Amino acid sequence: MQRRRKVIFDTDPSPDDAVAFLSAIASREELEVLAITTVAGNVPVELTTCNALKALELAGVTEVPVYAGASEPLVRRLVTAEHVHGRTGFDGYDLPTPKRQAGTKFAPDAIVELVMAQPAGSVTLCCLAPLTNVALALAREPKLAEHLEEIVLMGGSCFEGGNITAAAEFNFFVDPEAAARVFRSGVPITMIPLDCTHQALLTEERLRVLREAGTPVGTAFYHLLEFNKRFDRGKYGWEGGPLHDATVTAFLLQPELFAGRRVHVGIECASTLTLGASVVDWWSVSGQQANATVLRSVDGEGYIQLIFERLLRL
Ligand code: RIB
Ligand code: CA
Repeated sequence: MQRRRKVIFDTDPSPDDAVAFLSAIASREELEVLAITTVAGNVPVELTTCNALKALELAGVTEVPVYAGASEPLVRRLVTAEHVHGRTGFDGYDLPTPKRQAGTKFAPDAIVELVMAQPAGSVTLCCLAPLTNVALALAREPKLAEHLEEIVLMGGSCFEGGNITAAAEFNFFVDPEAAARVFRSGVPITMIPLDCTHQALLTEERLRVLREAGTPVGTAFYHLLEFNKRFDRGKYGWEGGPLHDATVTAFLLQPELFAGRRVHVGIECASTLTLGASVVDWWSVSGQQANATVLRSVDGEGYIQLIFERLLRL
């Protein structure tokens, strides 16, 4: 019997985040989701927390605790993405106000307490958002870095360019100092950049399985993900939007869907032109020690089928 992997999701729910943690929760044989921690990113933290609770309630999940975290990046002013996900971050389908409240613990404290309470090397942090909570947790507990099994994160870009500026991907751009802190922490990191997530687009054909499921989760996420398409169609001219964050869950479940290599990754924290850019030494020309496994390719069809099969179990 394969060990159930213990995971914590740090997230700023827009729909792709919610698909990531719900499909993980549905994968009960492989994964044990210890908690969901929320952070300001796509929308302010009050809304990302509300969206996390809404998604869990829609799926009838009551046992996974939610803890709210940072309302601002470490240094800079918050930049949000209502232009992509709407004012609420969950535009496209109305979900009822959640009955459940978030726990009273501050998310970075909850991350430290949950990880340190488990045996060393047994908890993976799945990061789907700006890394403010993770940087704060690392600062709060110096032993956290060596106690974590791994960090698997969606963020950055290799050769794909940026999606919030010409140079930077949104999660790293919002809090570049937090991202830099994480990449110098020494924690084993698997990074899934835009180069990878842009290979798995939610076309109408791929969304059909959700629309035809006829379940509350299938119907809601068909409309929520469909709403996102209009931004990506206008920006990239694609017939579908990337399902960014659920690549983290798919990697935990079927890493063979992905390919990449261990390289050095640095984060730009000074330049106004390239702030938040991930400088990925793909050809190892810098001589700097590798600090991450960067995944540049994915079997897009296999990925989407896996995630939607898991999601529709709820
Ligand atoms: O750049 C993509 C990232 O920004 C994803 O995590 C998406 O949810 C948004 O937060
Ligand atoms: Ca996200």
